[in-house]
Amino acid sequence: MSILVAYGSKQGGTAGLAEMVADALRREGFTVEVAPASAQGRVEGYEAVIVGGALYAFRWHRDARRFIRRHTHVLCNIPTYFFSSGPLDASASERDIAPIRSVRALMDRVGARGHATFGGRLTSDARGFLAHLMAKRNAGDWRDPTHVQSWTHAIAADLRAPLRKDA
Ligand SMILES: Cc1cc2nc3c(=O)[nH]c(=O)nc-3n(C[C@H](O)[C@H](O)[C@H](O)COP(=O)(O)O)c2cc1C
Repeated sequence: MSILVAYGSKQGGTAGLAEMVADALRREGFTVEVAPASAQGRVEGYEAVIVGGALYAFRWHRDARRFIRRHTHVLCNIPTYFFSSGPLDASASERDIAPIRSVRALMDRVGARGHATFGGRLTSDARGFLAHLMAKRNAGDWRDPTHVQSWTHAIAADLRAPLRKDA
């Protein structure tokens, strides 16, 4: 089964999460490609798609939003999963954080099967005025490989299940 992991990322943290998701799925035996959501022209031919987006000011990254709108018709017909990143503290590792409302609406649009919020990353040399200001207090990396691994493992089980009920 071939899977696409597409992401919208400004400072590279979500791109790194997409690679972690892809590596974990490869270890589960799947063929996986990773691509920026803005560069992915076609989704036909993949049997499942995972879309990740960074959260900025309570909005999902624009590339992830556009990707869903552009490919709605295909995504409606294959298993699709979303992830968001991410809180700049340990909260995402400690409890499930529901998708923000606009991401929930995009999930409904394509019938996405699941969502995870992963911790984020902000480097002390982050680009942009706001990011630079925030980095003075909140710089750090809360991306949690164990969290990614367990979510990915659940997706692998879901994809392998011969019969599944929609959640
Ligand atoms: C200006 C700014 C606004 C942010 N807003 C949110 C937010 O609303 N919710 C959230 O969980 N994280 C927020 N974050 C944290 C980012 O989502 C986190 O740094 C993420 O890892 C960035 O992903 P990227 O490196 O792929 O761009 C914000 C970060 C910055 C710099």
